[in-house]
Amino acid sequence: MRTQVAIIGAGPAGLLLGQLLTRHGIDNVILERQTGDYVLGRIRAGVVEQGTADLLDEAGVGARMHAEGLAHDGIELAFAGERHRIDFHTLIGRRVIVYGQTEITRDLMEGRAAAGAQTIYEAEDVSLHDVTGDRPRVRYHKDGADHEIECDFIAGCDGYHGVSRKSIPDSVLKHYERVYPFGWLGILVDRPPVSDELIYANHERGFALCSMRSQTRSRLYIQCSLDDKVEDWSDARFYEELKRRLDSAAVARLQEGPSFEKSIAPLRSFVAEPMRHGRLFLAGDAAHIVPPTGAKGLNLAASDVRYLWQALTDFYKRKSSAGIDGYSAAALARVWKAERFSWWMTSMLHRFPGSSDFDQKMQETELAYLVSSQAAMTSLAENYVGLPY
Ligand code: APR
Ligand code: PHB
Repeated sequence: MRTQVAIIGAGPAGLLLGQLLTRHGIDNVILERQTGDYVLGRIRAGVVEQGTADLLDEAGVGARMHAEGLAHDGIELAFAGERHRIDFHTLIGRRVIVYGQTEITRDLMEGRAAAGAQTIYEAEDVSLHDVTGDRPRVRYHKDGADHEIECDFIAGCDGYHGVSRKSIPDSVLKHYERVYPFGWLGILVDRPPVSDELIYANHERGFALCSMRSQTRSRLYIQCSLDDKVEDWSDARFYEELKRRLDSAAVARLQEGPSFEKSIAPLRSFVAEPMRHGRLFLAGDAAHIVPPTGAKGLNLAASDVRYLWQALTDFYKRKSSAGIDGYSAAALARVWKAERFSWWMTSMLHRFPGSSDFDQKMQETELAYLVSSQAAMTSLAENYVGLPY
């Protein structure tokens, strides 16, 4: 088989890139290790920057997000027993849309099916070949047979555990990493949200977040130990702990229901540089991970895809390699700013085991300063809604 762009991974990054390329007449094939249902079963964050929403519109898959997503003008920060609102819309005239990543993935899959573009699910042992030559190839096994795709470019959109990043020699790639000494225990429950906007809480027992997927579905998180097991956390224990970390008004509005999803996620900051090796480009979680505290994971994947799609369009439509040559530097400049923001939000809102009294005072002062300063709140707002491209 031959295609112009072989895309590895049918997560949001791969599907969005595929949709943009298809709509602009650039042929592409997606290879995905899992089944479509498995991909749709993964629960991830759900805050969409304006720029990400614009790109989904550009890809022709934004309609349901605009109809069903919730426009949020701000967030609430809770600490020392009080809640403080950060009003993005008043501060910078922009807002975010709360809409689950699972729904975005579903919209992209439907868009791809409608466009008639090919996705090969359950592609096993995907391997990349000759990425530094002019004719890269991708091999895989499926249904007991070996297959090969010849292409012009490979887009490695296969997430943190994928094969693409690992295909780049160690001598080329530099890794930057911070692993945080705690996790997030999250549940999904069909009960209305505690508040109209997301509540990010800093509490002496640990961080908590009250988020949502719709007017009738809540997504709730508490900071937990990395040694904790999901089985240790009954719903009753989860709610008990969450309530201890929330203010009384939030507790009064919390409706406890049976969770239908419960999982523990570790927190990590990670960047691999450069994001291009020959004719292989990395995009999304394949190249970088952020802790979820600023809800940047999906938005960064979309940001990479925007740069990569434009670079490939320049190559095919305008015969220019400038976009391709500049891809890694352009994508990374924005990635690092989101890494900084996610690290800062994480540092400000969690309890770190072994932190000193001085560290504690600094964290409290950071929060007190933030909510007292228009300049500081504006800085949070412009990062949360998404920096310019
Ligand atoms: N071969 C083929 N497909 C693979 C391989 C492989 N060797 N390894 C991984 N994949 C697939 C995974 O099964 C997954 O469907 O690549 C896809 C990668 O998708 P994501 O992990 O969702 O990554 P990405 O598309 O970059 O989306 C980033 O997802 O993890 C969240 O917080 C993150 O919101 C962000 C978004
Ligand atoms: C979520 O709704 O899952 C969510 C929202 C905001 C975050 C992280 C996760 O910062």
